[in-house]
Amino acid sequence: MILNINNRLKKVATFVKNRRLADIGSDHAYLPIYLAKEGKIDFAIAGEVVEGPYKSSIQNVKDNNLVDLIECRKASGLDAISLDDDIDVITICGMGGKLIADILESGKDKLANKPQLVLQPNVAANLLRIKLRDLGYKIVAEDIIEEEGHIYEIIVAEYGQMIMTEDEVFFGKYLLEIKNKAFVTKYKQELEKIKYIKNELKKSRSESTYKLEELNKQEKMIRKVLEKY
Ligand SMILES: C[S@@+](CC[C@H](N)C(=O)[O-])C[C@H]1O[C@@H](n2cnc3c(N)ncnc32)[C@H](O)[C@@H]1O
Repeated sequence: MILNINNRLKKVATFVKNRRLADIGSDHAYLPIYLAKEGKIDFAIAGEVVEGPYKSSIQNVKDNNLVDLIECRKASGLDAISLDDDIDVITICGMGGKLIADILESGKDKLANKPQLVLQPNVAANLLRIKLRDLGYKIVAEDIIEEEGHIYEIIVAEYGQMIMTEDEVFFGKYLLEIKNKAFVTKYKQELEKIKYIKNELKKSRSESTYKLEELNKQEKMIRKVLEKY
């Protein structure tokens, strides 16, 4: 069966370095199926909390003759795995950074074997970077891509300590080095959003000075980083 996996998940797949995977929020199980077909993993758990997507993962795994290699489990977050599964890489993709951070926090006992983490937050990557640091994880790579008008960030972390500056939390240390087209587009869009929100705040004569200060601070940070663009 031909698997129509998008470039976002293909990019995520390039960062998977270990062979016993847990893909959390697996939906159609596309990522584990792709990695299995590429010969990049020996075992995978496709964890999914919602019945419909869970059923579709089961069906897709069957259709691709991968039942011996991929186990679909219906569970929330890292409840899908146990330490005995010997998972050495966890992927959590296509969700907000806050939800990914919450999944890691509430399942942190499942990180005892120090698996590699390959995460793809749709928004709020900054919250996820802070959570990784607090969980004793170190970001070792990042990427940012644009696909069909959406911009996606990928964060790869391994067990270890890290210290981040405020800029590194906000933009990502490696993304500041990459500063590719997707990065520049993202932050130009952010500047537009900030401008819009500031205007709305002005119109509503909101008393929210805290919000305004925060927006001004972000605007300043972004303008500095985009100086040459
Ligand atoms: C937008 S889809 C992304 C699917 C796939 N990971 C991808 O990147 O294409 C998010 C999936 O995560 C599932 N999900 C949300 N919260 C979850 C949780 N706490 N545990 C497991 N799955 C969850 C949703 O049901 C949904 O299928």
